[in-house]
Amino acid sequence: MPSSARPYVVLSCATSADGYLDDATPDRLILSGPEDLDQVDELRAGCDAILVGASTVRRDRPRLLIRDPRRRAARAARGLAEHPLRVTLTASGDLPLDRPYLVYEGAGLSLAEILQDLNERSVARLLVEGGASVLGQFLAQDLANELRLAVAPFFVGDPRAPRLDVPSAPGRMTLAEVSRVGDMVVSRYLLGPGGSDQRFLRWAIELSRLSPLSPTAFSVGAVIVSEDGEVLATGFSREQEEHDHAEEVALRKLTRHRPGPDRRLRHATLYSSLVPCGARASRPVTCVQHIVAAGVPRVVFAWREPPVFTSGQGAEQLRAAGVSVTEIPALGPLAESVNAHLIHVA
Ligand SMILES: NC(=O)c1ccc[n+]([C@@H]2O[C@H](COP(=O)([O-])OP(=O)(O)OC[C@H]3O[C@@H](n4cnc5c(N)ncnc54)[C@H](OP(=O)(O)O)[C@@H]3O)[C@@H](O)[C@H]2O)c1
Ligand SMILES: [Zn+2]
Repeated sequence: MPSSARPYVVLSCATSADGYLDDATPDRLILSGPEDLDQVDELRAGCDAILVGASTVRRDRPRLLIRDPRRRAARAARGLAEHPLRVTLTASGDLPLDRPYLVYEGAGLSLAEILQDLNERSVARLLVEGGASVLGQFLAQDLANELRLAVAPFFVGDPRAPRLDVPSAPGRMTLAEVSRVGDMVVSRYLLGPGGSDQRFLRWAIELSRLSPLSPTAFSVGAVIVSEDGEVLATGFSREQEEHDHAEEVALRKLTRHRPGPDRRLRHATLYSSLVPCGARASRPVTCVQHIVAAGVPRVVFAWREPPVFTSGQGAEQLRAAGVSVTEIPALGPLAESVNAHLIHVA
C-alpha cells in the first residue's frame, strides 16, 4: 500500500510575480499580506507536521506556530497537539535551533524514507513550507500531492534571488482552485500519481479526515468537479448536520438558495471516497437518489461499502440509473484506513 505508507504532502510557497521566493538582500522579503498569512495559518492548523529546509531555518527563523487560538482549540478538541510538529533536514548539522524540531541529519537524505518515518510517527498530513531546494526535491521526486502557490503583485527583478529549484520537472499538474486572497493570486494544484481522476479522488479522501467521528457512520469526503475541471463544491461527513453524508453536503451547497440544481452538475463528476449509499438508516433519501435527482452523469469512488451499517448496492443502482461509475480500487485501502476505528479486522 505505498500511497498510504506516506503522509499526504502539501507544498506551500509565495513568490513574486517573476517567480522569486525571496530577494537577494540579507533581510527576509515579505511577500504575503495578512489575508494570505491567515489562510496559511488555517492550512498549518490542518496538518500534523511542517517541514522546512535548514537554510530556511537559519535565514528566516520561522515560528511555524498556529496563530489563531480558535484553530489551536479545534486541534486540541480533535486530540491533536496545539501546534504541528516542526521538522527540518540538514547535511551540515549547522542548525542554531531556538525552538524544538525533529531533525533529520545526514548527507543526501532520502525524502521518501523521511516520509515513511513520519508516517510511522502518525503524521498523516505534512506541510512543506520551503525553501527553494526542499520544495524542488519534493516536486522533482513526485512526492507531493498538492501545491499551494501564492503570487504577490510585485517583481523582484534580481537573478541572484532564489526561485523554485526543480532539478527535473514533474508532469503537468491539475489546477483545482484559483482565488484572490487580498492582493495575491492563490492557486491550488493537485499532483501525484495518475491523472485528474486519481488526484481529485485522493483529495476527497483527505477531506474525509475532517469528518467529526461517529461510532455509527463512516467518515467520507466528496468533491464535485465541473466539465472544465473547476471544483464546484466539496463536502465531508457530518460537515453541516449530524447525519450528513459527504455527497449530500456537497450537492446541498450547489442547490440551496436556488430554484433547481446547478446546471453545471449536468456535466460534472462527483468524487467520493466511499461508494454513494444505496440504502440508508439515518434519512429517507439516499446519496444515489440525490445524485440522480441532481443530474450528475459521472461518479468516481475508491472504497466499496463493507456490510457494517447497511448493505446498499450504490454502484449498481447508479449504473442502473444511467450514471457512469468508475471505481479506483488502488485508493480503496486508503479511504478505508480513515475508518479503521469502525472496521474490526478479524
Ligand atoms: N517564499 C516562500 O514561500 C519561502 C518559503 C521558505 C523559504 N523561502 C526562502 O528560500 C530560501 C532558502 O531556500 P534554500 O533552497 O536556500 O534552502 P532550503 O530548501 O530551506 O534548505 C536547504 C538545506 O536543507 C538541507 N537539505 C535539503 N535537502 C537535503 C537532503 N536531501 N539531505 C540532507 N539535507 C538536506 C541542507 O541543509 P544544510 O545546509 O544544513 O546541510 C540544505 O542546504 C531563503 O531565501 C528563504 O527566505 C521562501
Ligand atoms: Zn450517503
